This record gives sequence, C-alpha cells and structure tokens, in this order.
Amino acid sequence: MSNHLAAIPETGIASLGLHLPPLSMRVEDLATLRGVDPQKYLVGLECEEFGVCPPDFNVVDLASEAARRAISRWDGDPADIGMVAIGTETAVDMSRPLSAFVAERLNLRGNIRSYEVKHACYGGTVALRQALEWRLSGAAQGKAALVVAADVATYAQEDPGEPTQGAGAVAFIIDKPDIARIETVSYPYSSPAFDFYRPVGDEYPIVDGKLSLDCYKQAAESCFKALIGKEDPGAIIDSFEALCFHVPFPKMVRKTVMRMGEVFGWGAERVNDMFHDKVEPTMLWNKLSGNAYTASLWISVAGALQGLRTGKRIAAFSYGSGFGSELLQIIAGPLAAEAAWAEDIRKDLAGRGRLDGDAYRILRDLGTLKAVSA
Ligand code: HMG
Repeated sequence: MSNHLAAIPETGIASLGLHLPPLSMRVEDLATLRGVDPQKYLVGLECEEFGVCPPDFNVVDLASEAARRAISRWDGDPADIGMVAIGTETAVDMSRPLSAFVAERLNLRGNIRSYEVKHACYGGTVALRQALEWRLSGAAQGKAALVVAADVATYAQEDPGEPTQGAGAVAFIIDKPDIARIETVSYPYSSPAFDFYRPVGDEYPIVDGKLSLDCYKQAAESCFKALIGKEDPGAIIDSFEALCFHVPFPKMVRKTVMRMGEVFGWGAERVNDMFHDKVEPTMLWNKLSGNAYTASLWISVAGALQGLRTGKRIAAFSYGSGFGSELLQIIAGPLAAEAAWAEDIRKDLAGRGRLDGDAYRILRDLGTLKAVSA
C-alpha cells in the first residue's frame, strides 16, 4: 500500500447539530386563513406544522446555530476544520457564500476551503459527499469538514405550496465515523427539468406541481433500481432499519413508496407494512419542521439514527429539483445510540412560538417572510 493510501483516515459523521426557527404554524390555521378544507392539508398532503422565521431571523442564524451545536459536541479541535461547505437554496448573496457568513459567526478562518453548494434540495447532500470524498482522497490530510444543509422554504401567499413551507438546518462534522459511516458507493440519477426553479431576483419559486411529483418519483425509482440491480428487492429493503427520503411534504413520500412497491411487484399489504415500519417513523420531525429543502432529508436521517445500534443500516434518498438525486447507504456508529442531537429538536420545539392566521398574515403582508432575506 502506498503512503498516500495508508494516510486515508476512517471517515463519516462525527457530530450532528440541528436548528429549527423560533416560530411555527399549524396547517389547520393556514387552511382557515385560506378558506380551504383543513383535511386537504392534513390528509391530502399529510402536513401538520411548519417552521416560520421572524423578521430578524434568517438562514444565516439557522446554519450558524446548527454548526455551533455540531462543533460543541465534537471531541476535536475547531482549528482542525479544513473545509466549510454549505448546501442551500436560500442564498443571502449572489457572490459571497453562506459559508463565509457562518465562518464569520463561528470565527473559523485560516487554511480552510470554504464555499456554498447549490442544487435545490440536493445541495446539502452534494456538500456532504464532497466532504467525505475530500477526506477519503487524502487531500484533507486528516483535517475535518464542517458541512451544513440549511434553508428557509417560502412560497407566495395562496400558492398551492404554501402549506408545505418550512425551515431548518442540519450541521455535520465529517471526521471519524462516531455517529455514522456513509458507503462510498452511492446511486445518483439526474435529468434536466423545469419542475421547480427560482429565477435570479425572484422572491418565490415557480413550480410545475404535477411535473415535480413525476420527477421525484422517477428519480426515486431509478435510484432504488440502481441499488437493487439484479438482487431480490425484499432482501435489500429488509437489510435497512429505515428508509429516509427528502420530504417536501409527507404524502409525497407515501406516494413514492407505493410506486416503488408497484415496481417491485409487491401487493398493497406488503408495501403498506414497509411504509409503516421503515418510512413513516422517519418523518416525525419533518411533520413539525415542514419542508426545509436541503435540510429536509437530513432531518429525517437524524431522526432515524436515534438509538440505532452500531452496524444497523439506513437508506437515504436525496432529491433536488432541476433535477438531481442520489441514494446513500448509512451505517450507524457507536454514538448513534445516545443520539445527543435529539436535544436540539426538543429544545427548539419547546421554545418556539405559534402563529395564528392573523399573525401570519401580518408577517406576510409586511413582506418580512421573503424567500430571499438579507
Ligand atoms: P394542490 O393544488 O394542493 O394539489 O398542490 P391537489 O389539488 O392535487 O391536492 C393535493 C392532495 O390533497 C390530493 O391527494 C387531493 O386529492 C387531496 P392525492 O390525490 O395526491 O393523493 N385533497 C384532499 N384530501 C382530503 N380532504 C380534502 C381534499 N382536497 C384535496 N378536502 C402540490 C399540491 C404538491 C402540487 C403543491 O403543494 C406544491 O406545489 N408544492 C410544492 C412542490 C412540491 O413540493 N413538489 C414535490 C416534489 S419536488 C421536490 O421535492 C423538490 C422541492 O423540495 C424543492 C427543491 O428541490 O428545492 C419542492
């Protein structure tokens, strides 16, 4: 073995931190405000609550606090961070990366590669993969990476996407695989589409709702087919404790799993059982955060890793409009069992205020809940 290969360190998620914004709203209250049957949001989309940012709070606050929490739980030295990579589609500047805003807050400077990654909701996963591959290539020379997936998802008022809004951030220290290892081989699939996009200068995304659902399902089907190859789908799916998905809204994930069941040739009962056992439990936090774009899959993964014994596996499907997707395999490490990061969610949920319809309308009418916030 060459010296170069001998130097490659064990790599994975060493520490995790999460952050949700300080306000929330129940979808029933939005339905009442919009004159919509609440069952459409509760049953039709399976949404419950979504996070809302107050006027003086934005994606920089979300990302910085998640990163601070991840660093505080890591047994390493912040001086050993050699990369800061942030996936987001809520950029606060067209040139200056979100990583510079976060590094400034956390006083991270020096021999660090610092940058922002954009690919809709898939950007956080790309940043994470780059950090893993940077370490595994030997280029990191043993340094750790700080990776953050952070977004504020806001739609125009009365847009069909409004009940699927949300916000959140997940930060990782990529170093020793104390919490989880991620298989080097993964299963990407992309195909250019205009399913969901936000032209430069526009406040809100333009969404072709039906196309976006079709693209998501096509991506999931293609990634899982690549993973399964010629093997038995049942044996592969059974090898995972949980299947985590990007969660734009929970019904999207249910529909996708039902589609996968058809592709596998499974009957309704078998697919429902699989959804109930391995998928639905991973979306508990997503139902309280709403869609947090890049952070959405990783909120689900953080939930699924809680309490897992070392060696247990989960699958993670990342999707970003445009579109790009990737299926990852994650293996729990020794610190998954104690799940220290769950405290972040408990604390944020306990402290967050709830908006009623009037308060929400005032915030929106004042224009303080913009997708592009400075
Ligand atoms: P919509 O207008 O609410 O759609 O928009 P709908 O009229 O088809 O209703 C939705 C469901 O509610 C249907 O259920 C209705 O039957 C049901 P389904 O037939 O699909 O099972 N419904 C009711 N159920 C009970 N009681 C009632 C009732 N009325 C209706 N009274 C849409 C839905 C998803 C299009 C909209 O919310 C939207 O545009 N969302 C944003 C786009 C999106 O999330 N796409 C998902 C895939 S793309 C993605 O994940 C990427 C993304 O995260 C962005 C990124 O990558 O950056 C979005």
